[in-house]
Amino acid sequence: MDRSENTRETVLKASRAYYAHLAYYEDLLAQRERRTAKTTKRELDFLEFAFRTHATHRVRDVLDVACGNGPHVVGLAHRDYQCTGQDYTPERVQIAKARAKRECVSVRLSQGDATRLEYKNEFDAVLALKILFLLPNDDDVVKSLRQIHRALRPGGILVCNVYNPLYAGKGWFSDVIHKGLYVEESHARGIRITTINRLQDFEPIQGVAWEKETSIIEAPDGIHIFRDRERVRLFTYWDILHYLQVAGFKETKSYPDWKTKPPKKPKAKMLIFVSRKD
Ligand SMILES: C[S@@+](CC[C@H](N)C(=O)[O-])C[C@H]1O[C@@H](n2cnc3c(N)ncnc32)[C@H](O)[C@@H]1O
Repeated sequence: MDRSENTRETVLKASRAYYAHLAYYEDLLAQRERRTAKTTKRELDFLEFAFRTHATHRVRDVLDVACGNGPHVVGLAHRDYQCTGQDYTPERVQIAKARAKRECVSVRLSQGDATRLEYKNEFDAVLALKILFLLPNDDDVVKSLRQIHRALRPGGILVCNVYNPLYAGKGWFSDVIHKGLYVEESHARGIRITTINRLQDFEPIQGVAWEKETSIIEAPDGIHIFRDRERVRLFTYWDILHYLQVAGFKETKSYPDWKTKPPKKPKAKMLIFVSRKD
């Protein structure tokens, strides 16, 4: 792997392009298909469970540090939380704003980097969902977790998640890492998105992979083909636990696959961590 590939600027630029292209069409698909709504509901139910179970006081103010198209901030705003969302990709922020407006909920939304958070003791809960493994390097991960710790009020909680690299069943992350190829087709009325992800490069010692994605979109405004690439870090359960401790979180509970009970299968696809600030 060429070292220059992993500079902070290269990773952020690739990530921005990757998420910008698809933003509008993913949102259109999400509005028209049921599967996304069902998954989001399950995640929102889990978040409320975590708020009730792990925060020492009632959760009201929530920050989502890479809110994407806004599924969690908008969903939580519907459930009466005061939500603030930010995302590095401006196109995603615009879509989240349009979504909040369309669904008549109020959410504070802005463009921002998860490693440049300037909040202090302002939130009862912070979400860092599907973002830590996309940050340019491990120093940025620790920096972001420290800033999240500072942003929380004492007794408040962080909910973050990563794909488990030890899971070898079906799915985007595991198929790309273990088999080198993942193909998925999603469709709803008037729109079909086919994505082909290929492993481009893998550095096992650092646990870093670059993947190439081709998205073929058949939408009401024509056919579009996007080609992008993305860097992903293969964090194990122990890596995240360690970084949470380094960032100042003394107490962490982990949950597999948005389930609130221990799993029957030992290797979860998605690892979810709930950490409380003392
Ligand atoms: C896989 S999506 C997850 C979105 C959302 N959290 C969810 O769970 O649906 C990753 C998001 O992280 C954003 N992102 C990537 N790098 C970022 C950074 N350094 N700071 C903030 N957001 C970033 C991307 O624009 C994208 O919207």
